[in-house]
Amino acid sequence: MVDLHPAVAVLAPLLGTWTGSGTGEYPTIATFGYSETVTFGHIGKPFLTYTQRTAAVDDGRPLHAETGYIRVPGPGRVEWLLAHPTGIVEILEGTCDIGADGSVSMELSSTIARSASAKEVTALTRSIAVSGDRLSYTVQMAAVGQPLQHHLAAVLRKEQP
Ligand code: HEM
Repeated sequence: MVDLHPAVAVLAPLLGTWTGSGTGEYPTIATFGYSETVTFGHIGKPFLTYTQRTAAVDDGRPLHAETGYIRVPGPGRVEWLLAHPTGIVEILEGTCDIGADGSVSMELSSTIARSASAKEVTALTRSIAVSGDRLSYTVQMAAVGQPLQHHLAAVLRKEQP
């Protein structure tokens, strides 16, 4: 296996596959539960690869998915470049803090680009925390005429290789 590029060494705790579950809500939709699988990988270049897929808890049907890359442009900073199958592309930028115990916490806000057919999403923020084998996150969204507010929260555990 190729060595992790030094530029993304601080993100080493993310590498691997994570599974778990979350809850989604928004004023315009019914609250839902979902299962989620996320994989962070690398190929020795200065980025991590990222894939995510989700399924409904009630009947297992596929829900949201996203894929992209994570970069570390400088100390304490991080960038996520994400593509969504819903016609949305998200550039997340923000802070990446490494705790004394090796925990990682990120506070990100997005620049959004949308295709002509995509739903109106105007702002998105994400908070992500990784500590040992536990990854948790929340997502806030401004969309379809609603102000920025909670959309998602989930807790995942790292699968043992
Ligand atoms: C774990 C990830 C996510 C899951 C499981 C999820 C799931 C859902 C579900 C089940 C709905 C309601 C039914 C539907 O429209 O399909 C919904 C609505 C929506 N989601 Fe998410 N979503 C996720 C992430 C995102 C992200 C990252 C964005 C924006 C970039 C987003 C934007 C929206 C929008 C705009 C709506 C429609 C609201 C409306 O039309 O009233 N979602 N989501």
